[in-house]
Amino acid sequence: MSDEAARARVLLVEDEPHMVRTLSRILERRGYEVATAGNGREALDLLASEPADVVVTDLHMPVMDGATMLREMPRDGRPPVVVLTGYGTVASAVEAMKLGAADYLIKPCNPDELLIVIERQLEVDALRREVANLRREVSASHRFGELVGDGPAMREVYRVIEAVSRNRSTVLVTGPSGTGKELVARTIHSRSPWARGPFVAVNCGAFSETLLESQLFGHRRGAFTGAIADQQGVFQGAHGGTLFLDEVSEIPPPLQVKFLRALQEREVTPLGTTKPLRVEVRIVAATNRDLRAEMRAGRFREDLFYRLNVVHLELPPLSSRREDVPLLVAHFVAEFARQYGVEPKRVTERALAALVAHPWPGNVRELQNAIERAFALSPSDVLDLDDVAPALRESVGASAEAATSPAGLSRATSPEPESVSPASAPESAAPPPAASHPLDAEPAVAPLEEVERRAIAAALEAARGNKNEAARLLRIDRQRLYRKIEKYRLG
Ligand SMILES: Nc1ncnc2c1ncn2[C@@H]1O[C@H](COP(=O)(O)OP(=O)(O)OP(=O)(O)O)[C@@H](O)[C@H]1O
Ligand SMILES: [Mg+2]
Repeated sequence: MSDEAARARVLLVEDEPHMVRTLSRILERRGYEVATAGNGREALDLLASEPADVVVTDLHMPVMDGATMLREMPRDGRPPVVVLTGYGTVASAVEAMKLGAADYLIKPCNPDELLIVIERQLEVDALRREVANLRREVSASHRFGELVGDGPAMREVYRVIEAVSRNRSTVLVTGPSGTGKELVARTIHSRSPWARGPFVAVNCGAFSETLLESQLFGHRRGAFTGAIADQQGVFQGAHGGTLFLDEVSEIPPPLQVKFLRALQEREVTPLGTTKPLRVEVRIVAATNRDLRAEMRAGRFREDLFYRLNVVHLELPPLSSRREDVPLLVAHFVAEFARQYGVEPKRVTERALAALVAHPWPGNVRELQNAIERAFALSPSDVLDLDDVAPALRESVGASAEAATSPAGLSRATSPEPESVSPASAPESAAPPPAASHPLDAEPAVAPLEEVERRAIAAALEAARGNKNEAARLLRIDRQRLYRKIEKYRLG
């Protein structure tokens, strides 16, 4: 037994003096501090002034019996109650459990059994308090809706969200992959007066031009080959709510014009129709590219840029707000404990130090994955350095690359970094282990086209021919994959 448990205080509620003597002796010998009460009423009075860590109570007592005492005990912050019951009255013990007793023992009880039950209750209660503390820690001031973090950078983000959520202004959210752009968009929506309206997200990088146009604006049956029925666009779908346009930099220039018009006029014209439809939506657009650079390179229209850039929220990489790492760790530990139905893990100091020091090229998403991995792989209730080390080690290569690649391309692992579309990377899966990377087995240097061809062939094989999945593995968008398949005749 640990020292802490040895000093725990047990309140014994029992009316038979010899039982009180026997049990007190057993408990005191074990190092517990013992208080006694002769009935439920006395116990409640005593608890009000001197809290106990565990209550052990008889059921049949004069003045106030055990069941009544349980009923009158405040639910919040009550100590675990162990009920003692005579043989043949187990039914009343079950009744007591329904009233919130933590466990029961049948009299005459075996001293070892009594001590084990008490010890277990003390442990469970300590864990429960720890969970409550963890929850409190990530609540209130440390977070904003679902967004966790209380450093100056995130506070500024919260301030802007607070301000914009009251009106319908267009918001542009930028930042490297995994910094929480979509979560910010959802938070803006959920805090706005239109929170009950729809939140519709569309990834502009995931469609060919015609499909994207029909996704955005809708189409009439027969508007193009394959348009077998009328389809509503996302602008209409988000009417009265928020439209989240992810990877907005990927909208092809001809569509940018139509998009701009929709933003200006607040109306859309579905493909194959001439009659514009009115839509009231708030636009939140996101990109991990530098839109100004895209604009200078002629890939993004200037007028559209200024239309979108009404309010700009820049999410900093996690490495520049390390002060938020401990809170995020606590948040994800609590979150995955809930998801996995286990007790939250205690994070050791050295594990936390390693997590804080890590460069996090994949930002919050990578941190989230690292914690989930520790939950999935280790049954221990402690999260130590060994549990996080594999995830951190695997990330090192990526961080070295991130350091040398241009801003916004921190996940550049594809053969053509300038074409990387980070948001098409798997949303929740951990990065594939280095050893299974399709390029690993290849010679160190080969003609770039050859390397690319092999990478695409390997991805198609790994994805069993599923092109969406292959594109995700390669972290390029589907259109690009189709072009490459054609180029290398892999189709
Ligand atoms: N501040 C935060 N607090 C809690 N969870 C966060 C925070 N930021 C991000 N996350 C979580 O990290 C994951 C990645 O966030 P999100 O998808 O919003 O990133 P993103 O910027 O849109 O990334 P990408 O550019 O790759 O699409 C999500 O599971 C999200 O819930
Ligand atoms: Mg995203």
